[in-house]
Amino acid sequence: MTSFKNQIKKLNSLGYLRTRSVINVEKSTRVNLGNKIVTSFLSNDYLGMSKNRIIITELKKSANTHGIGSGSSPLISGYSESHHYLEKEIAEYLNVESCLVVNSGYMANLCLLNIFDQEMNVVQDRQSHNSIIESSKINKIKINRYKHLDNTHLEKHLRNGKQDIIFSESVFSMSGDATNIKEHYKLKKNYKSFLFVDDAHGFGIAKCKAKNNSIENSCSSFNIKISNIDAYMGTFGKAVGTLGAFICGNKDLIDMVVQKGRPYIYSTALPRCIIDATRKSLKILAINKTRYNKLHSNISYFNKQSLKKDMAFNFTESPIKTYLIGDPHSTLSIRDKLIKEGIMVQAIRYPTVPRKHDKLRVTLTSDHTKKDIDILLDTLENIHCEKSK
Ligand SMILES: Cc1ncc(COP(=O)(O)O)c(C=O)c1O
Repeated sequence: MTSFKNQIKKLNSLGYLRTRSVINVEKSTRVNLGNKIVTSFLSNDYLGMSKNRIIITELKKSANTHGIGSGSSPLISGYSESHHYLEKEIAEYLNVESCLVVNSGYMANLCLLNIFDQEMNVVQDRQSHNSIIESSKINKIKINRYKHLDNTHLEKHLRNGKQDIIFSESVFSMSGDATNIKEHYKLKKNYKSFLFVDDAHGFGIAKCKAKNNSIENSCSSFNIKISNIDAYMGTFGKAVGTLGAFICGNKDLIDMVVQKGRPYIYSTALPRCIIDATRKSLKILAINKTRYNKLHSNISYFNKQSLKKDMAFNFTESPIKTYLIGDPHSTLSIRDKLIKEGIMVQAIRYPTVPRKHDKLRVTLTSDHTKKDIDILLDTLENIHCEKSK
């Protein structure tokens, strides 16, 4: 136990101690922190769907009829008609052969690499999400990591026709950077490798022209059909506003996850009321683009204003905006000063990002106003100017 105490002390002195704040979320952009309402730039509830009254009513109705817990894993009795229909509906929205709903995005990535029992070579970006890194540590998987977004380096790890999997996030959760899925698709074809895409931060919000009754996604942004890649995963805990995730692929791949995806086989299924709420949310997102358009208007406004101020945020079309500080103590100090001014952003530090890449992360949602964005940028500019004096 004393050794834990020393480890915690050391993490604290280095500025790397992870802590939790008790936060009551009023809406995606306003939270109650210690009895003070502050403007939040923390939530992945990109379209504010977690507070949508129609979805909440659907959840209540379903819970009244079916109860709360699912009672067992999907292979026992946890796979209801609602689970079955949600999978069918997602397959239709995304025009793919097959879909499997799982409890979380982390689980989806673990399941995906559980399906191989021969030696595989997983090629992944050095800034991959932890769920991709951890999923590659199972079975006989070999990992090769390429420099962030460097497709020339990626290509060096591919061996023609061998068992390679390119496994990438479409939008990097710690930087907002985007993967060029078209380039990855070309590499997949040239080297006859597998291509897996984690679209946790693109499903429902990626900048693209979605056809009627379909859902925006990062593959469409690059004019790549999801059915042309081997596995595509999206999550419900972000743009959809509920909980859980799904994997799309051909029928054989999905059948294989049911056979071999141990986290899927051995976990209690998501409650039916969450599944019904998710179905309702997707139904709304497929036809009503008001929130989606508002989010993208906020992203464009943020990019324009931060560029005007010469503030070095990333200027991608993603709602994830990051500001490099480069040391953990300064990152925490700026974060705390922002809280005093009534604004919350996330301090991202090692080991979530490499050492000296400590940064502030700002997440935009459709509920933010232009005024929220102006106040954030002005306040951050003032704090940073004060610091550099
Ligand atoms: C890129 C990426 N993949 C997977 C996940 C895990 O998703 P979930 O929160 O549904 O477990 C996250 C979560 O933040 C993520 O950012």
